Amino acid sequence: MRKPLIAGNWKLHKTLAEAQELARTLKDKLQDEQRCELVIAPPFTALAAVAEICRDSPLQLAGQNCYPATEGAFTGELSPTLLQDAGCHYVILGHSERRQLLGETDTFINAKVQAALAAGLKVILCVGENLAQREDGELFDVIATQMRLGLAEITSAQMAEVVIAYEPVWAIGTGRTASADQAAEVHAFIRGLLQGQFSSEVSESTRILYGGSVKPDNISSLMAEPDIDGALVGGASLDSASFVAIAHYP
Ligand code: G3P
Repeated sequence: MRKPLIAGNWKLHKTLAEAQELARTLKDKLQDEQRCELVIAPPFTALAAVAEICRDSPLQLAGQNCYPATEGAFTGELSPTLLQDAGCHYVILGHSERRQLLGETDTFINAKVQAALAAGLKVILCVGENLAQREDGELFDVIATQMRLGLAEITSAQMAEVVIAYEPVWAIGTGRTASADQAAEVHAFIRGLLQGQFSSEVSESTRILYGGSVKPDNISSLMAEPDIDGALVGGASLDSASFVAIAHYP
């Protein structure tokens, strides 16, 4: 049985004071959550302060990215170990915004996956197609490549610390959510890839989250799909009532 995971990706939002206020509210409202695993990903500047607030609560922290090195002359970057030092349990890698805006390649993302796992962080690896790729019928090839290259050199044992997030790029921030059927089709495809790339055990145990305009009014239909194990929430995670409603989906 895969425990559902609801994660909030705050992206480039929330000053330190705003992040602390949101974290306090979420801790208060989600203190007794047991059904779902909960993760929030504040901006780097707020990680340590939010980790302190979330101590002794179900809320775990994720970094929104990391660099594949433990230390060195990498101006502006953060290592997996610094994320752990700030209180992170997870790191989000391969987000489409970093692929698109910063040109992150599958190979570079894989180096980050390897470095994060080696440091003891759990990984949320994002994959997904853009609208043109979907309309041209390329989405399965795109996702298969992202999975194959993004998880290269990763062992079946390491996959216990990896969560996959399917985020159709055309649904991110657009209010245009993939339908439950659309999401379910790709999640089943990803689960099949995991079986071929690793084993049926890995395929069955790996959680696959959906991300892309998840809201309180669509989470239940998504979670009703057997291959959807949770959500990676952007905009709605910035509002405590919305994120709590998503975490408490009926
Ligand atoms: O990482 C989650 C994010 O990409 C989804 O954003 O605003 O569509 O929920 P949003």
